[in-house]
Amino acid sequence: EQHRQIEETLAHFRLTKDMLLEVKKRMRTEMDMGLRKQTHEKAVHSRRDEHGDFLALDLGGTNFRVLLVKIRSGKKRTVETHNKIYAIPIEIMQGTGEELFDHIISCISDFLDYMGIKGPKMPLGFTFSLPCKQTSLDTGILITWTKGFKATDCMGNDVATLLREAIKRREEFDLDVVAVVNDTVGTMMTCAYEEPTCEVGLIVGTGSNACYMEEMKNVEMLEGNDGRMCINMETIYDRLVDEYSLNAGKQRFEKMISGMYLGEIVRNILIDFTKKGFLFRGQISETLKTRGIFQTKYLSQIESDRLALLQVRAILQQLGLNSTCDHSILVKTVCGVVSKRAAQLCGAGMAAVVDKIRENRGLDHLNVTVGVDGTLYKLHPHFSRIMYQTMKELSPKCNVSFLLSEDGSGKGAALITAVGVRLREETS
Ligand code: BG6
Ligand code: GLC
Repeated sequence: EQHRQIEETLAHFRLTKDMLLEVKKRMRTEMDMGLRKQTHEKAVHSRRDEHGDFLALDLGGTNFRVLLVKIRSGKKRTVETHNKIYAIPIEIMQGTGEELFDHIISCISDFLDYMGIKGPKMPLGFTFSLPCKQTSLDTGILITWTKGFKATDCMGNDVATLLREAIKRREEFDLDVVAVVNDTVGTMMTCAYEEPTCEVGLIVGTGSNACYMEEMKNVEMLEGNDGRMCINMETIYDRLVDEYSLNAGKQRFEKMISGMYLGEIVRNILIDFTKKGFLFRGQISETLKTRGIFQTKYLSQIESDRLALLQVRAILQQLGLNSTCDHSILVKTVCGVVSKRAAQLCGAGMAAVVDKIRENRGLDHLNVTVGVDGTLYKLHPHFSRIMYQTMKELSPKCNVSFLLSEDGSGKGAALITAVGVRLREETS
């Protein structure tokens, strides 16, 4: 009986090919709608002779980083990066906007000292991996905070302006904020620098998102779905996770796919199973009640095939969850169904993207490369494979390769900044 109940619950997470084809179709509808209503950012084209020293900020992923990117042209082009990771305390992430941007500037100040380059006004590219309305190369209006940020007085404002104001407040050094860049675009640009068939950027990390080269060379960003894409297989756990997130009702497709939320789905299932007496002797510990305990890295570890059950148990123990071996098997199964669904949904979305590119060009067959980054994609033992298989099955006319990008969004921001500086010089 217990077994049947568990199976029944987990069955809601198992998707058929028809369901996935439906997801692909809806993603396509959303893309077409997005194309009609949004203002598109003209894609910038990086040339072989771009060069110079640029600063880049990378905010919105697991780590906040400041980077110095040196692009050298010549016979052999090189991109050299130096970066430093800075912590953003939770009080600052969820304090006032001024505090947040002052903190960012103080990190830049530290970095400039550290690199010994404080002085000349440097051009800066701002990788801002949060939903923005981009109206020009250097304007990104924050639509809504996600990913644990909740600073006041930022939503509806241009983040480049907020940054410039903080630079003025500090009165210590000047910076030329040239570009606001989404991480997907930065990743795509960096990969395209090496591999010209790279026309799609994909991030599967704390959040997830993709971008691709639209015809007329418009860069289009897929910014979730604002809750419109209501997938009928959404479970009660998805609803709970959304409800208790900082941005209820927003980007719900993403909440079934990316690192920040998968662990929460798992946790909610485990709570439910515990209540029903299937786990932890029916005792819901304080740990299990704690939001965010199942970080991506734990999910990835628990699901690793190389791990013996005893080790799974050790991880759970480390998280303060005392389990038997049987419990560990169940936890692992739960993680498995949740991450498999995530990978399949992501694959279905990507299938829509590559087929759109193929149709745009009237091709019967398309070869394309996807530049990809993000902790879930990189660390999870099965995610990338399942996503790839799903995509292949749903878009058989596309031959897709994935190119893992290292430091992609930071380098990409610098490349885009370089183009921005050049374009400004050409037109002035
Ligand atoms: C990083 C990028 O490599 O990947 C970030 O520099 C990006 O900008 C990130 O957001 C995505 O992964 P995660 O897991 O850190 O959110
Ligand atoms: C979130 C953000 C988006 C970003 C993605 C990946 O979806 O809204 O801008 O690209 O996470 O980091």
